[in-house]
Amino acid sequence: MLKHIITSAVTALTLTASGAFAAGGGDQHITDYDFSFEGPFGTYDQNQLQRGLKVYTEVCSACHGLKYVPLRTLGDEGALGYTEDQVRAYASQFEVYDADLDDFRPARPADHFPENTAAGAPDLSMMAKARAGFHGPYGSGMNQLFKGMGGAEYIASLLTGYTGEEKEEAGVILYENTAFPGGWISMGPPLYGEDVEFDDGHSNSLENEAQDVAAFLMWTAEPKMMARKQAGFVGVLFLTVLSVLLYLTNKRIWKPIKYGTRPE
Ligand code: HEC
Repeated sequence: MLKHIITSAVTALTLTASGAFAAGGGDQHITDYDFSFEGPFGTYDQNQLQRGLKVYTEVCSACHGLKYVPLRTLGDEGALGYTEDQVRAYASQFEVYDADLDDFRPARPADHFPENTAAGAPDLSMMAKARAGFHGPYGSGMNQLFKGMGGAEYIASLLTGYTGEEKEEAGVILYENTAFPGGWISMGPPLYGEDVEFDDGHSNSLENEAQDVAAFLMWTAEPKMMARKQAGFVGVLFLTVLSVLLYLTNKRIWKPIKYGTRPE
């Protein structure tokens, strides 16, 4: 019986290990960026989220929407740190359709970011969780715990992965990209570096802009990541203390039987 269990355990481990290999995926190249929110205690960098929002607003929103993200969440705790007035001012630059008015009006914090399907670009709300980088959904889970799923890495690598090569296929221009599965994407390079000016004076090189917007998109996909990690940590701590207490109780209860003494 024991032999049987050990054999299945070894087989399962081998299978997951080879799965982790497959997750690397052909000739895709994903850079292992160091994001502040990685690891069991990682947190979002508020300034980076603000810079990422700026890149999204000034560049990506021309083609991509964020229709699942309520604008008011920009002011949430652990988010971008904006005040109510700042959120209201930011929201008002978007026009949303109001069914009651049967007309467009400036967006309010209660509205969501607009959707945008004009260019045939996918919605970015959940993109950082929909795509996994090299950490993949496979393996023992340790990489995911310490490094995340790699969705933000994938986005940053995609934005910096253009080789400059182009080709036309069935009337569509495709751009060679080292991070995109298959190597050719129909999105032209959206960033070149120095596309936006950051208020905090941070460098606006291509690498920085790409990482900032990737971090912002990680936040849109998982705004409660910090609360989740905190709850997990408290849970593990609680279970550890409980295990010690149960162990000691168990020893004490069985002591008379084991050593033949009477209970104290
Ligand atoms: C000119 C329009 C345009 C702009 C601007 C643009 N994109 Fe895209 N994007 C597209 C299109 C079109 C696709 C679909 C590409 C495909 O599937 O071949 C796409 C796809 C994507 C994808 C998904 C790739 C995948 O794995 O399927 C991501 C991520 C992305 N864009 C991020 C961004 C970010 C971040 C920005 C801003 C820095 C941006 N895009 C700016 C048009 C645009």
